[in-house]
Amino acid sequence: MTQALLENYRNDFPALARRRNEKPPVYLDNACTTLVPQPVIAAMNEYYADYPACGGRRSHHWFAQEATRRIEGDLEQGIQGARQLIAEFIHAGSENEIIFTLNTTHAINTVALGFQFQSGDVVLVTGREHNSNLLPWLRLQNLGLVKVEHTTANFEDVFDLEEFESHFKNNRVRLVSMAWTSNVTGTTFPAKDVIAIAHRYGARVLLDGAQTVPHQAVDVRDLDVDFLAFSLHKMCGPRGVGVLYAKSELLGRDGQIGNDVIEPTILGGGTVEDTTFDSYRLLRAPDRFEAGIQNYAGLIASGVAVEYLRQIGMERITAHEAELNRYLTDALRNRYDDLGWFNILGPRETNQRGGILTFVVQRPNAVGIATELDAKRNIMIRDGVFCAHAYFNEQFGLNWMHPTSYREHRMIYRLSFYLYNTFAECDIFLETLDEIFKERSYID
Ligand SMILES: Cc1ncc(COP(=O)(O)O)c(C=O)c1O
Repeated sequence: MTQALLENYRNDFPALARRRNEKPPVYLDNACTTLVPQPVIAAMNEYYADYPACGGRRSHHWFAQEATRRIEGDLEQGIQGARQLIAEFIHAGSENEIIFTLNTTHAINTVALGFQFQSGDVVLVTGREHNSNLLPWLRLQNLGLVKVEHTTANFEDVFDLEEFESHFKNNRVRLVSMAWTSNVTGTTFPAKDVIAIAHRYGARVLLDGAQTVPHQAVDVRDLDVDFLAFSLHKMCGPRGVGVLYAKSELLGRDGQIGNDVIEPTILGGGTVEDTTFDSYRLLRAPDRFEAGIQNYAGLIASGVAVEYLRQIGMERITAHEAELNRYLTDALRNRYDDLGWFNILGPRETNQRGGILTFVVQRPNAVGIATELDAKRNIMIRDGVFCAHAYFNEQFGLNWMHPTSYREHRMIYRLSFYLYNTFAECDIFLETLDEIFKERSYID
C-alpha cells in the first residue's frame, strides 16, 4: 500500500485524529475490535436522524421503507441492501443465507442450539479455540447431548490433517466447528481440505471466521462450507452485529427438522407467517432467525462497512497486514530472539501469521507491559489469554496463571494490525518496548 493511500484511509477514521498528551493513538488491538470509518458512523447517525423506523418489512410507511431498502435492497430499482452486500462479500449463493446475529458468539450459539444432535454425536473442535467456539459445545456435552473432541494443538500452530482425519475413524463426528484463523497466533487453517475430509465422513462444518473474514477474501461456495460465523465489529463495522452464513438447505422450511437443518430457538415477532393459540407457521430464512425489532442502524452500517472494505480490496488489506507483521517480527527477533525469555507464538514463518503478533515474556514480574505502553505512548495492545484459556492451560499446565512466585511470571501480549496501521507505529512500539525492557533491567 502506498503512503498516500494509507494516509487517505487513515483520514477516514476519526479516532486516529485524537491526541492524548499531544501524542496520537497507536491502535494495535484490532483482533478485539477495529476502529470505525466515517462512512460507517455516518450511516448509523443517518438512520437515527432521518428514518429511525422499523426495518423489517413490517411497517410500510415512508421511514420504514427507507430503512428496509438499505437492509434488504430494492431489486426493482437495482439497489443493494446490507444483506446483499454481505452475501456478495463472502460469495454466498443468496442473501437469504445471511442471518444477522449479535456477533460471532451468537452465530455459533445459533447453530449449537438449533442443530438436531442425536445421542452419540461428536462435535470436533481444534486445540486452540476461542471460548465462543468451545463453551457452546461444552454446555451441550454437560447436558449429555454430544461428546466434544479436540484436535491436538502445538505452539507452531501447524494443522495436522492426518491427525484431524483420525478423529473420524472411531467416532460419529456430526459437526466440525473450528476457528478458521486463530486469535492467538493468527494462523489460518486449511479450511478447504478440512471441509473436504469432514464431508467425506458425512459431517457438517462450521467455521468460526471471526479472525478470517475481516482480513482475507472469502468464498463460501468455493470452500463448500456449511456454516460460517463472523462479526462486523472486527471489520470496521458497528458493534452488536454479526453474521451466520448457512447453506440454504440447512436453514429449513416449515415443518422440516432433521437432515442437519438448524431450528430457530429464539422466536417471536418477525419470525412467523401465521399463528393460532396452539400453533405457528414460521417464515423462511432469514426472517425465522431474526426475532424482534433489530439493530437497524447497525445492519445498515454493516453494508457500508463491507462496501468500504471491498473498495479498498481484501487482497490489499491482507498484504498490508503481512508486511507490517514481517517488519515488526524481524525487528523483535533481531533484538530479543537470543535472550531466551522472549518468544513469538505460532509458526516461525511470519507470512503464516496474518496480522497477529503474539509474544510471551517470561521474566520476573512480567505483568503490566501493555498498561505501560498505553501510558507512555498511547499504544493499545492486548494482554491476557485472549479468551483461549483451554489452549494455554493445555500448553502451559493448569496452574500457569497462578505462579507461586513472581519470578515465574509468564505474560502474553498480542498486537493485531488492520488496514490503517503504519510502519511508523511499529517503530513507536519498538522504541517504547525497548525503553520498558531497559527500565525493568530485562536488557542493558
Ligand atoms: C476466533 C474468535 N472467535 C470468536 C470470537 C468472538 O467474537 P465476538 O465477541 O464478536 O462474538 C472472537 C473474538 O475475539 C475470536 O477471535
